[in-house]
Amino acid sequence: MQKLSMLYEGKAKKVFTTDDKNFLIVDYKDDATAFNGKKKGTIAGKGEVNNRMSNMLMSILEKEGIPTHFVKEISPRETVVKKVSIVPLEVIVRNIAAGSFSKRYGVAEGTPLKQPSIEFSYKNDDLGDPLINEYHILALGLATRQEIDLITEYAFKVNEVLKAYFLKIGIELVDFKLEFGKTGDGAIVLADEISPDTCRFWDVQTHEKLDKDRFRRDMGGEVEAYNEVMRRLSGK
Ligand code: TMP
Ligand code: ASP
Repeated sequence: MQKLSMLYEGKAKKVFTTDDKNFLIVDYKDDATAFNGKKKGTIAGKGEVNNRMSNMLMSILEKEGIPTHFVKEISPRETVVKKVSIVPLEVIVRNIAAGSFSKRYGVAEGTPLKQPSIEFSYKNDDLGDPLINEYHILALGLATRQEIDLITEYAFKVNEVLKAYFLKIGIELVDFKLEFGKTGDGAIVLADEISPDTCRFWDVQTHEKLDKDRFRRDMGGEVEAYNEVMRRLSGK
């Protein structure tokens, strides 16, 4: 497949058109941002780790019956994906209180939740991705009732599959953010990425953070953390 012109450059990836209108190529960068782009930096090697990890996890999810945009990894940083129109929602699933959930509800980080939770944010950088409820999603026409229900079902299924998978390699899946897209024929598929940029991973034994919180919170050691998750995932 031929890489043509750059369609879009996001904070962590570039997206290119190809000679097939149904497919795009994503190119993962080492750039890292936080707080809606206000904090900027780079994490050496992140692009490769996130590309490989996301592809590996999406392949596992496909086998478990969750449709994804993943098609083929073509280089350490580049992957062919199905062309979708992104549903402008960030879908956040949580197992353990952390981050904005802890702040909003005054719950100590690390408190296990009585059941997994889901919330949606409106994907809009100008507005800072505000939290949004299902009535607002319908009122704004961002998704239909059926799409919200399917996205919710997929998101909880992703949680069950990945929680069990990460536990086997000594990692607690604290929370994560998903994005979904709509293909040309209207099917909802999991899109974007699943990586230490978009998940909170804690070591089961030590509770050490193995994700982007190390960058967000100026803790250092982010390169080692990303590599450690990838090392465990590849069974080394
Ligand atoms: P939060 O606790 O800051 O709301 O984050 C919840 C999860 O979503 C966490 O795993 C990090 C991820 N996340 C993103 O992937 N992108 C974002 O822009 C934000 C705010 C969080
Ligand atoms: N990726 C988001 C940003 O740049 C935020 C985050 O992941 O914390 O703003």
